[in-house]
Amino acid sequence: MKDRVLITGGAGFIGSRLARRLVVAGYEVSILDNFSPQIHGGQIELSHDLRNTTQLFRGDVRDISLLEQALEGVHVLVHLAAETGTGQSMYRVRHYTEVNIGATSSLMELLLTGKYPLRSLVVASSRAVYGEGAAKCPQHGPVFPEARSGKDMKTGDFEPKCPICRASTSMLLTSEDAPFQPSSLYGLTKQVQEQMVLLYASTLGINGFALRYQNVYGPGQSLKNPYTGILAIFSNQARANRPIYIFEDGKESRDFVYVDDVVEATFRAVEALPQKPVALNVGTGVAVTVAELVDLVISYYSSGSSVTTTGAFRDGDIRHNCANTERLQSLLGYTPTWKFTAGIQEFLGWARSQDVDAGKYEQSLAELRNKGLMYG
Ligand SMILES: NC(=O)c1ccc[n+]([C@@H]2O[C@H](COP(=O)([O-])OP(=O)(O)OC[C@H]3O[C@@H](n4cnc5c(N)ncnc54)[C@H](O)[C@@H]3O)[C@@H](O)[C@H]2O)c1
Repeated sequence: MKDRVLITGGAGFIGSRLARRLVVAGYEVSILDNFSPQIHGGQIELSHDLRNTTQLFRGDVRDISLLEQALEGVHVLVHLAAETGTGQSMYRVRHYTEVNIGATSSLMELLLTGKYPLRSLVVASSRAVYGEGAAKCPQHGPVFPEARSGKDMKTGDFEPKCPICRASTSMLLTSEDAPFQPSSLYGLTKQVQEQMVLLYASTLGINGFALRYQNVYGPGQSLKNPYTGILAIFSNQARANRPIYIFEDGKESRDFVYVDDVVEATFRAVEALPQKPVALNVGTGVAVTVAELVDLVISYYSSGSSVTTTGAFRDGDIRHNCANTERLQSLLGYTPTWKFTAGIQEFLGWARSQDVDAGKYEQSLAELRNKGLMYG
């Protein structure tokens, strides 16, 4: 038997696939998860295979005595448990802070006791730490635009602006050296989580990886959580022939990375030889616009959904994100391989067989409107 790995959030989308990958490779795997109803609906058990091959600590990552039990004998901690809705984070401020930052603080205090044989700490960070990320100004070259202004967006002007001359910019690939500029509370909690993990990995003299996942998609992602995952949301709407509303002008884009690629990168972080704590992008470097995504989904289902590009926007949303993945290749020897056109077929083929409650999405938008966090 190889080392013992604890995955917090291991019942979730990425965590459950990572657990399988580690079990196959001979690791002893334990999972800590509270089966959050917003993510899992009514499901309160691990899948059959994981029930037989992993140890489950059922409960909240904020529960310090549960963390103490789960950390016993652990060599690698992969910390994935989190609240993940960008829009929702903007009004559930205390809750997101307690789950994402508070629980990480408890974990770090426990690790500092030196009771555990830990050799590596891996945390799921996010592209959200960059905010608008890297962009090119026609006059000033590479720049890092600040959060977009509601005033511009209300006139249909959505591209991020040059911080020097305010000209509209175009997207560049964002590398890990870009400054932290999160534009949502979720992004801010991910920034703090990763800084804590890298700081304490250094203090403890162990490996530390903050993996900045881009937009992860694939079979098994939550179709029940209306607060996160645009691909899941559009798929649910299209299957039910319900209207699809595209925010902004549809030219906003995302770097969609297939879950198997994310699992492989995370697995390599678990296996990595001793090295300095580091943050790494995990993405494809290919941008897909939201309008392109909707076209693919509609045509896959031959859906009768109406599609409206609304010009609406949400506080906390960014315009583009696309990762430079050179550091991932150079430190972990990995570059994601799945093409979006192939991965989306896998996702939609799986999603077609799942039960969904599409009405919840409209409810989640109404919540944002009521809080004054959505325009249009
Ligand atoms: N999926 C993406 O696109 C993406 C992108 C960037 C970063 N991430 C990060 O990757 C990690 C995993 O994401 P995922 O897509 O697998 O999400 P997910 O929602 O499928 O899984 C999260 C898991 O954490 C558990 N959880 C939530 N709150 C908990 C709590 N208080 N106590 C115990 N368990 C709790 C949930 O029950 C769930 O099983 C998260 O930290 C997320 O922020 C994901």
